[in-house]
Amino acid sequence: MRAPDQRTGSAPRLSIVTGAASGLGRAFAEQLATHGSGLLLLDRNGPLLEESAAKLAKRYSVRVETLAADLSLADTPARAFERLQHLGLTADALFNNAGFNVYGRFEYSDLDREIEMIRVHSIATTQLSKLFLGKRDREQRNRILNVSSIAALVPGPFVSVHFATRAHLLSFSLALAEEFRDTDVDVSCLCPGPMATPFFETAGMTDVRLFSGWPLKTMSATDVATLGYRALMDGKRMYVPGRRNRLFAFAADIAPRPLKIRFARWVMDRVQPVRDAN
Ligand SMILES: NC(=O)c1ccc[n+]([C@@H]2O[C@H](COP(=O)([O-])OP(=O)(O)OC[C@H]3O[C@@H](n4cnc5c(N)ncnc54)[C@H](OP(=O)(O)O)[C@@H]3O)[C@@H](O)[C@H]2O)c1
Repeated sequence: MRAPDQRTGSAPRLSIVTGAASGLGRAFAEQLATHGSGLLLLDRNGPLLEESAAKLAKRYSVRVETLAADLSLADTPARAFERLQHLGLTADALFNNAGFNVYGRFEYSDLDREIEMIRVHSIATTQLSKLFLGKRDREQRNRILNVSSIAALVPGPFVSVHFATRAHLLSFSLALAEEFRDTDVDVSCLCPGPMATPFFETAGMTDVRLFSGWPLKTMSATDVATLGYRALMDGKRMYVPGRRNRLFAFAADIAPRPLKIRFARWVMDRVQPVRDAN
């Protein structure tokens, strides 16, 4: 029995989730499966993706398709929709979740990885959204959830490109949400604070202050996925999970810019501060 959507009547029937092999994407896939949604899961980590897909299909008796592909490549978004077309399926939900971080002073950080990040966070998300909207069934309710970050609210020293991509995604999402006011499409931007996923370790950031769980609250991917799913279903255009994180989001709205950038610098610095090459 599918869980009813209070606002619009029905939960998604087929959802695309990117970055679905790990962390929040994996938790979103599970959240969607518990609500009866079929899935197209996309991630570059093929073996982990297959393992997760097999578990979900078995536990929740939903259809789970996978695409092991790199979203920094220009043709990956089109491949996802070609796969659906080939299967005769139309997605009614898109979860743009894949992402990663690159840490260090911009002068010394890895430009190739930063460009890859812009491709994944900004370009692939734009492509997937355009394809999803173009191919949607307008008789159904359609939903896009973009995973940005609380990082969207302030410039981020030592993670300058990452924070900038997050601001791009928030702005893009809010503009789309307004364009689609009172139509068949809901667009929601999820802005989590720190989460307990492999994200910090992958980026070599476990000694950054933010990772400590204070002053921002570190949440589990499962809790964030549950709250993010609910926010999407309730038609919230932007959602920051966690009361303490919402307090910081509010402060970011009202604090003078120089003050919030200094705070961001402090919280994104290593416990042994970044002095030079890093
Ligand atoms: N964790 C946090 O504190 C936090 C806070 C705010 C926002 N977020 C955002 O939340 C989202 C999910 O992150 P997470 O914490 O769940 O991290 P995660 O556990 O590392 O999961 C991210 C997944 O995305 C995949 N991915 C990365 N680049 C990809 C690409 N080019 N093509 C296909 N798949 C790719 C990763 O594969 P690989 O493992 O192979 O890289 C990984 O499976 C990200 O957008 C992140 O920016 C995270």
